[in-house]
Amino acid sequence: MPELSKSISIAGAWGYIGQKFLQAAQSLDWQWYAHDPGPIPPGTDESRCIAGASEFYALPAGMFHLAMHPEHRRAAMDALLARNQSEPLLVLCEKPMAEPEHPEHCAEACAAVEHSRAVVLYDFPELYDPMFWRIVQFLRSFKHVQIDAIYLSRCKDREDPGIPRNYKRMVPIQYQETVHCFAFALFLLAQFSESIEEVLAQGLEIQGRSDEYCPPNPQEYPYAVDGMCEYSGRIGQTTLEGRTDFRSGACWQKLRVIRGVADGQRFVITADFLEGKKQLWIEGESGPALTQTNSYEEVLRTCARWYRDVPAPTLKNGCYPNAPLARIAYQLSSVLWRACRHGRRTVLRSLDEVLGFDARFSEAIPTFPRCRSRGDCPAGRSCGSGTIGT
Ligand SMILES: NC(=O)c1ccc[n+]([C@@H]2O[C@H](COP(=O)([O-])OP(=O)(O)OC[C@H]3O[C@@H](n4cnc5c(N)ncnc54)[C@H](O)[C@@H]3O)[C@@H](O)[C@H]2O)c1
Repeated sequence: MPELSKSISIAGAWGYIGQKFLQAAQSLDWQWYAHDPGPIPPGTDESRCIAGASEFYALPAGMFHLAMHPEHRRAAMDALLARNQSEPLLVLCEKPMAEPEHPEHCAEACAAVEHSRAVVLYDFPELYDPMFWRIVQFLRSFKHVQIDAIYLSRCKDREDPGIPRNYKRMVPIQYQETVHCFAFALFLLAQFSESIEEVLAQGLEIQGRSDEYCPPNPQEYPYAVDGMCEYSGRIGQTTLEGRTDFRSGACWQKLRVIRGVADGQRFVITADFLEGKKQLWIEGESGPALTQTNSYEEVLRTCARWYRDVPAPTLKNGCYPNAPLARIAYQLSSVLWRACRHGRRTVLRSLDEVLGFDARFSEAIPTFPRCRSRGDCPAGRSCGSGTIGT
């Protein structure tokens, strides 16, 4: 298996997530290169900054990170995949997989990756985290595991004008953030199933409601986007309940509560993946050694390990955070967005129906209200605690 040369080339390196990975690479002592049309941050080693896109995407780096918004990633992906006829590159791509206006870009990205030699993984950090794999290891220690319910909450105050990050434009929260929750649920369930297709073989149901996001910079938004959603439903036999809240006053958490039965005994696992404040409780026992990790370093470490240990076709098509998984998670985001908009439960019976679902987001754009300023919006509410299935 190929060993990843410990180097990373980050496109969009001066942005929020690009900086996180640049710092992670530096602290792991990886070599790095950066490409970003924005001004180079003071104190940066400019010999590592590559201004020309064609020069940057031809670098002999072990791994590329596409840390830009979806509309800027397509040209980058084309450049890397074209080059990749002869080299098995590793590309870490940000989420969401495409803009809400362009769901067709997901299928196009999947086909392009499939026809290349590149391994493209998507940045759902929880799926690379040792905490996630500890949960899987615990559950795999039983012969029969049944996951009855998963509670998913992802909340932070993204309206506070005092936080510079809150001025970065976002898409509706179902696509922007709940996509992490869907990726988590799908990926976890797939660990105890034949495949993701099998996970969805018994269909899914989603209903939800949403509220608007009132950013500190509403003038930069072409229309109002959702900033809170609450939802419930099921994937197969597993009940899902979740809340994603970016409004003023929201608490800070990335909570997961997993309940079920293992070899006849009920279990409950609680995990909070909030950076710097991670917690893991498995059957009442906490796991301090696993909680003091840096999520971005863990993504890099896990990517490097998988690239070395897992054959490329398995990484690309098996149960990994790859393009097929990112596409399904994106589709579930679109199902939730639509369910919130229409206030109706959406039922889909198979993976094919999930992939064929069209939320018709673009058609709805002319009906969206304008984005309001913070003072005009209601305050957020308190966090959930995941009592589903108790
Ligand atoms: N996986 C996660 O947990 C996570 C966290 C935060 C953001 N994200 C995702 O990352 C993406 C970027 O978000 P952000 O908040 O970092 O945005 P950002 O606006 O802070 O950063 C984007 C950067 O891309 C640069 N850029 C624009 N066009 C470019 C091009 N053609 N080539 C190279 N660089 C270019 C910009 O100059 C900017 O520095 C979004 O899709 C977001 O959803 C993911």
